[in-house]
This record gives sequence, structure tokens and C-alpha cells, in this order.
Amino acid sequence: MFSAEIEIMTQPQSLTSIPELRAQIRQWRAGDESIALVPTMGALHAGHIALVALARQHCRRVIVSIFVNPTQFGPTEDFLRYPRSLEIDLEKLASAGADAAYYPGANAMYPAGFATTISLAGPALAGLEDRFRPTHFQGVATIVAKLLLQASPDAAIFGEKDFQQLAVIRQMVRDLDIPVEIIGAPTFREPDGLALSSRNIYLDARQRTFAPDLHQAMQWAARRIREGVTIPDALRDASASISASGFVIDYLEVRDSATLAAPRTAQNPAELRLLAAARMGQTRLIDNIPVGG
Ligand code: PAF
Repeated sequence: MFSAEIEIMTQPQSLTSIPELRAQIRQWRAGDESIALVPTMGALHAGHIALVALARQHCRRVIVSIFVNPTQFGPTEDFLRYPRSLEIDLEKLASAGADAAYYPGANAMYPAGFATTISLAGPALAGLEDRFRPTHFQGVATIVAKLLLQASPDAAIFGEKDFQQLAVIRQMVRDLDIPVEIIGAPTFREPDGLALSSRNIYLDARQRTFAPDLHQAMQWAARRIREGVTIPDALRDASASISASGFVIDYLEVRDSATLAAPRTAQNPAELRLLAAARMGQTRLIDNIPVGG
């Protein structure tokens, strides 16, 4: 005798309000089911789908939130043109086996009179993304805190591509005693090394051919540091190569992976991370890799 398990592809539950989300969570909790949250801003790509798969390894139920959070965009940034593709996202989540898609409207998240935000220090002021996007992490931390309080998941999954964001969220969860396990997921890359990002669709065909040069130059710099080249020398040469590919560099820096502090003299490469942000035309790309390989 044997029994075959037939997996039937089901649509994820569509949840569009906080009460709907909480009702669904109560039902799962009543059955003693663990819950993972994957916060996203939609325009889902293979990297997000990998986050769903990772969430599934940790918890019985997976909720994916989709909310293009206005407060994390600066006044001159791409909030209005940020890609939005809810129907396609929901189809992708059905194939990925997510249990619920939570996509509240802006009024549910920021009702009239909304006045409370989270004030950050530590990794949020490391002088990387925050130097170029001074209000970004306050917006991220506030929305992520709200999502965690709304969904009360056992685990929440964030991509390592936004390395400083992950550090900010870990710090916030620790400081505010939010009872959730934060899980970082490795960056998902195109075969040519370009980190997947919803913003990659802004690149035109010519820019797309040069975009992987950022990651290649970063790998080169990391390899040279491992081989004993000094960090300033390796970064200077990599910067020249990145600029020659048509990028305008916002930053290219080596930092302590855990604290994002500047590296100590002769610090072990295994403890270091190389982080970059660079603009190709109107498109701003970020990336990071371990220096230790
Ligand atoms: O990484 C993102 O997509 C966003 O910053 C997040 C964590 C969903 C908050 O809006």
C-alpha cells in the first residue's frame, strides 16, 4: 500500500485590511500553525519567490505583504513610477504556494492623523544608504514595525540585498523586544551576476548590458582584499572600473558585517562586507557581498 500526496495549487487568501489579516491569523493560530511574513513592495521577481520558499522552510503558513510604502521614498525619488503589478504578483504567489497575500491600502496603513514614527540610530546611521536617503530607514522601520505588529508572525524574511535595511530591522526588533525571528535570505542574481531588483526594469537595453559590471568589480575588489591588497587600493581601482562602465557611484565601502562600522586595521576579511550604491542613468542600483568570499 502507498499513498500519493497530491499538491493542489490554491490561490492565496487575499487580505486587504488589518481585521481580515488578524482573523486569518487567529484561525491559523487556533490550529497551532506557525506563520512567516515576507514583507514586499510588490513587482515580485524570482528573488521574492525565493524568499517565499525560504519562509516555507521555517513556518507552516506564509503571508506575503505587498505595500508600496510612501514614507520610505524621498521627495525626489521614484514612488509614483515604482512598478505596481498586483494581478501578476498574485498569480506568482499562487504558483509559489503562498497562503495569503496582504495588500492593504494607504489609508489602512496611514490613516488620517497618523503621527508616530520610529526614531533610529546605530546601523541606520552608518553613513551608507542613509547618507543619500536620509528619511528612508525611518519609513522602512515604521512600516515594518506596523506589519510585524499586525501579523505577529513567528518569522519574517528579508533579502540580504538590502543589507543595511536588514541590519536596521534586526536592531529594531532587538531594541523593541518584538517577538519575531528575523531571517536574512541570500541575494538572488541573474546569471551575469546582476542582483535581482524590481528597479532593474528601469534599465534600457544598453544600460542592462553594463549593469553587471558593478557586481563584477565588487567581486574583483573583494578578491584582491583577500589576497592582501589594502582596502583603499582595492576600492580605488574598483571605483575606476565601475565609473568606466557608466555608473555614478554613491558609495563603495567595506564595513564590519555585523555592525556596519568602518573596518578595524587588519580586520579579518571574513568579518567584512563590501557595499555599494551606484546610479546608471536614472536607475539607482545597490549591491553587497561578503569580502571573505
Ligand atoms: O525591502 C522592501 O521591499 C521594503 O523596504 C520593505 C521591507 C517591504 C518595507 O516597505
